[in-house]
Amino acid sequence: MTARVDGPDKVTGRARYAVEHPADGAAYVWAVPSVIARGTIRSVDASRALALPGVLAVITPDNAPRLPGTGDPELALFQTRAVAYRGQFAAAVVAGTLEAAREAAGRVVIEYEQAAHDVTLTASHPGLYKPDFVNPRYETDTAVGDFDGAFAAAAVRVDATYRTPAEHNHPMEPHATVAVWHAGTLTVYDATQGPSRAAGQIAAVFGLEPGQVRVIAEHVGGGFGAKGMPRANVILAAMAARVTGRPVKFAVTRPQMFAVTGHRAPSIQRVRLGAGPDGRLTAVCHDVIDQTSTLKEFTEQSAVATRHMYAAPHRRTTHRVVRLDVPTPSWMRAPGECPGMFALESAMDELAAACGIDPVELRLRNEPAVHPETGQPFSSRHLAACLREGAARFGWAGRDPAPGVRREGRWLAGTGVAASTYPARAMPSQARVTVSPSGRYQVSIAAADIGTGARTALLAVAAEALGVPAAAIDLRIGDSALPPAMIAGGSMGTASWTWAVIKACGALRDQVRARDGAVPPGGLTAYADTAADIGALPAHARYAFGAQFAEVQVDADTGEVRVPRLLGVFAAGRIVSPAQARSQLIGGMTMGQSMALHEESAMDPQFGDYPNHDLAGYHIAAHADVQDIDAVWIDEKEPELGPAGAKGIGEVGIVGTAAAIAGAVCHATRIRVRDLPIRLDKLLRQSHDPDDSAVHPAAGRDRQIRL
Ligand code: MOS
Repeated sequence: MTARVDGPDKVTGRARYAVEHPADGAAYVWAVPSVIARGTIRSVDASRALALPGVLAVITPDNAPRLPGTGDPELALFQTRAVAYRGQFAAAVVAGTLEAAREAAGRVVIEYEQAAHDVTLTASHPGLYKPDFVNPRYETDTAVGDFDGAFAAAAVRVDATYRTPAEHNHPMEPHATVAVWHAGTLTVYDATQGPSRAAGQIAAVFGLEPGQVRVIAEHVGGGFGAKGMPRANVILAAMAARVTGRPVKFAVTRPQMFAVTGHRAPSIQRVRLGAGPDGRLTAVCHDVIDQTSTLKEFTEQSAVATRHMYAAPHRRTTHRVVRLDVPTPSWMRAPGECPGMFALESAMDELAAACGIDPVELRLRNEPAVHPETGQPFSSRHLAACLREGAARFGWAGRDPAPGVRREGRWLAGTGVAASTYPARAMPSQARVTVSPSGRYQVSIAAADIGTGARTALLAVAAEALGVPAAAIDLRIGDSALPPAMIAGGSMGTASWTWAVIKACGALRDQVRARDGAVPPGGLTAYADTAADIGALPAHARYAFGAQFAEVQVDADTGEVRVPRLLGVFAAGRIVSPAQARSQLIGGMTMGQSMALHEESAMDPQFGDYPNHDLAGYHIAAHADVQDIDAVWIDEKEPELGPAGAKGIGEVGIVGTAAAIAGAVCHATRIRVRDLPIRLDKLLRQSHDPDDSAVHPAAGRDRQIRL
């Protein structure tokens, strides 16, 4: 096991996160969020705030510097008086101390012209429409064959509607920025997943050339997608620094993160499966209903995994979205696949019960030879191997499929399984490698380590590619001044960055070899860009897969759910850094358990925002919730995705966990919870979901936790 190279810095506090960067004479920002969900800012009275000692400025729509780039309305801070959602920043105070800024923020008086708001997603909302595409740029709808005919004719049918709530990413480190202007150039220390992309986007907002903005993200305390793009905090810090002529620090508060830093939108998903008595699917349909804000269209691609998971000649997927007066949804770990696979994999579990077929066997029977919609070959696909390996390790053989028959004292016991998948991709990146005459190497790439262990993985890969010990290499990442690279997102970081690094290391070795090993006094430098390599990839289907197995215990009296065992088996190409990979995977599974049992941003229709907006009200799985959890992987050769053959593991770990747990809860209790999270009140209610559609009798009718 390779120890995490930044471990000592982190545990001793030497590692600096964005807002911890020292800045002489720094001023501090406190934002003033809007208290209406829709309407207009009529006036801002800053006089009582400005009267406080230490207050430097109050920035409002009246006096904010005009921003040349307003293409992203979430970043066009204070450029209009319109309010699009509750919690949107309406004004901000800049002061010499954080305390003064906070106190003054409470004295800013804003008069609003309030309009009626609509924050409630329903399956029959009149505003639902078909977007041109869904994230990141998938087709909105797909259809192959005759789904309706095949479904009507199927011997066994499942027709069920699943719901997932709004969820927030909540990295431990909030979104935070230190902004410093030097004449016309801007340097920001920012909590971001991608310094290169952020620099370009920030430059566009301020009307600067990309080279005039430098983004430094040395250590980042998690992101899970929320830090994949610059947020209001960067723009506000930079604006405040410009207004006051001082460096400015700004950290978004935890409650503010519920509004301005993105979240996973709630979903309503209808899944219909038609199969023969042998469980072979003939018809698959997945219809997704989603919401976005009035500011931006962001449609989660929740039906896309259904396009490649299982063979069936007749199939359809659709996405519809409605614009509501809510905060803008955004990327959250396995966007699309995570909520979508909760629905599909729950439906597969319901089909297994309806057919009387073991749920592992059901999935094996429906393995496609090629992508079932496009006909493209898979570059590598080992879902079946994951299911078999997982079943063997978990002790699945001999499982009694009967639901609600195992009880020890107060505890009802059950097990569940679900498949997992996530696209395997890489994006163009560049890297530079130098060697000095003394034999020291420097590897530079604008990658970001958001807590994943990217430093450790890249160092290991570079050492192998150069054929030198890792101790001979200085790795530089986390700075947009370095060769531009893909963000740490979409599970693409490792594949994208290792591709560029290995290519540059190979080029440097060629140079050294051509000189018979003699390094000139000025050293040697090699540069690599993978854009052409990635552009030349064959049009194949590339995905990581996995199988998740869960054991649950449900308290028959209280409905409390415990998860004594969680096992994930993954096929994700080469695992370049095993210790870090295991952490990532069990982290994803923990987040999946959290999604299954706890996470829910509750929308208050009256006020139009999330009242449980802190980590006391927004529940997440804590250490005591996670018991025997393990992630393993099978040996998989991925021949196409770059020289490391790594498929990426940041997101596949969360996919399917919630369905495995929901299936296990149903196996334990006979109660099929189709709307996450599986709160105990849903288990104690006799009939928890009046409008859901009936499926097989075992899970559909007898909804009593007491046996
Ligand atoms: Mo991930 S949600 O693409 O950072």
